[in-house]
Amino acid sequence: RAATDYQAEDAAITQGTVATNHTGYTGTGFVDYTNVKGSYVEFTVSAASAGPAALTLRYANGTATDRPMDISVGGTVVSPALSFPATTDWNTWADKAVNVTLKAGSNKIRATATTANGGPNLDRIRI
Ligand code: GCU
Ligand code: CA
Repeated sequence: RAATDYQAEDAAITQGTVATNHTGYTGTGFVDYTNVKGSYVEFTVSAASAGPAALTLRYANGTATDRPMDISVGGTVVSPALSFPATTDWNTWADKAVNVTLKAGSNKIRATATTANGGPNLDRIRI
């Protein structure tokens, strides 16, 4: 299956804001997670058929501290506390990859901050 990009600024954001105050993002901005545990962005991903898929999350973390997030699909955490380590500065973006399994039709993919620092800045997912 061909990969599709889903911009974070177009996703459902809970405890975060759309921002443009750093460079290098794609689309029209990125999500700045509120710096609390439990802040999340949820994407609705459509799949023609069920099966495995490679998910990448494009993010920036301008701090020296990891910003782990739980990655869930359809309400089930499939990658707990996935690491989003430092990317040097907030203008430098990196891709984090994780394998997931989709069902046919609509899938809710959520990235939830697991620490009080909140998530990294999130640009998009590709799947
Ligand atoms: C800075 C930065 C934000 C980032 C925030 C954070 O304020 O400009 O883009 O989200 O730090 O630490 O989460
Ligand atoms: Ca933030």
